[in-house]
Amino acid sequence: MPSNDQKVALVTGANKGLGFEISRQLAKQGITVLIGARDETKGKEAVEKLQAEGLDVESIKLDVTDISSIATAAKKIEERFGKLDILVNNAGILLDRDVNPSHLDLNVLKQTFETNFFAAFAVLQALLPLIRKSNAGRVVNISSTLGSLTDSIDPNSNYFGFRGLAYQASKAALNEITIQFAKELANTPIKVNSADPGWVQTDMGGDAPGTVEQGADTPVWLATLPEDGPTGGFFNSRKPLPW
Ligand SMILES: NC(=O)c1ccc[n+]([C@@H]2O[C@H](COP(=O)([O-])OP(=O)(O)OC[C@H]3O[C@@H](n4cnc5c(N)ncnc54)[C@H](OP(=O)(O)O)[C@@H]3O)[C@@H](O)[C@H]2O)c1
Repeated sequence: MPSNDQKVALVTGANKGLGFEISRQLAKQGITVLIGARDETKGKEAVEKLQAEGLDVESIKLDVTDISSIATAAKKIEERFGKLDILVNNAGILLDRDVNPSHLDLNVLKQTFETNFFAAFAVLQALLPLIRKSNAGRVVNISSTLGSLTDSIDPNSNYFGFRGLAYQASKAALNEITIQFAKELANTPIKVNSADPGWVQTDMGGDAPGTVEQGADTPVWLATLPEDGPTGGFFNSRKPLPW
């Protein structure tokens, strides 16, 4: 088993997009990063790219919506490292862009919550015993300003006109996971925060103004917060966002 001083991070949905870039930036800080991917081939391809940059990364098969996949991944991390220092709940889906609520398919709503909310909860709950074994556990839930209820009702917000009940409600609910776990863990070294990466160029973000490098900055900052850093917050560009 590697030394307990060596930090270990798990990033879900890390085979591409923001998860891949967050993994790269964490590994560049000398952290061992487990690249969570539901498709083993895609996970291995991502790992090869980062290893070619000299980074310490390994792939781990993880479909976040599959409870047995979560349990298997947790067991592997326990056997290999005995702890987990950083969890980035990044895997997410957006299926209802520009869909009015009256046209939203109930199955799309359920599927979105499966990935963006239930899975994030299940992964965090399953890995918490290993995160408790870290001396500085950090949990980052990748949320979105689209999940901010304040922005949703503010006519002056850039996000006011966005229609996507499933995605927006799932991210608002994810933020509540952050709040509840942060409260429960307040007397431990573990910090739990939500990050909005901003609108960035990925398969999900499309023709966005921001780059993945910019989008990864706040999640990586939250994943590596010092002891006196915040917990139970929601951040974009390293600044607090309204819930
Ligand atoms: N891009 C933006 O502008 C933006 C803005 C705000 C928030 N976000 C959030 O940032 C996170 C990453 O988004 P992205 O833009 O990087 O999207 P992306 O390029 O579509 O990547 C999404 C990642 O999630 C994975 N994933 C989806 N369902 C999964 C499951 N059941 N199990 C394991 N992995 C799963 C995908 O794996 P496959 O390759 O196998 O599909 C992929 O690796 C999401 O939570 C998203 O909501 C993005």
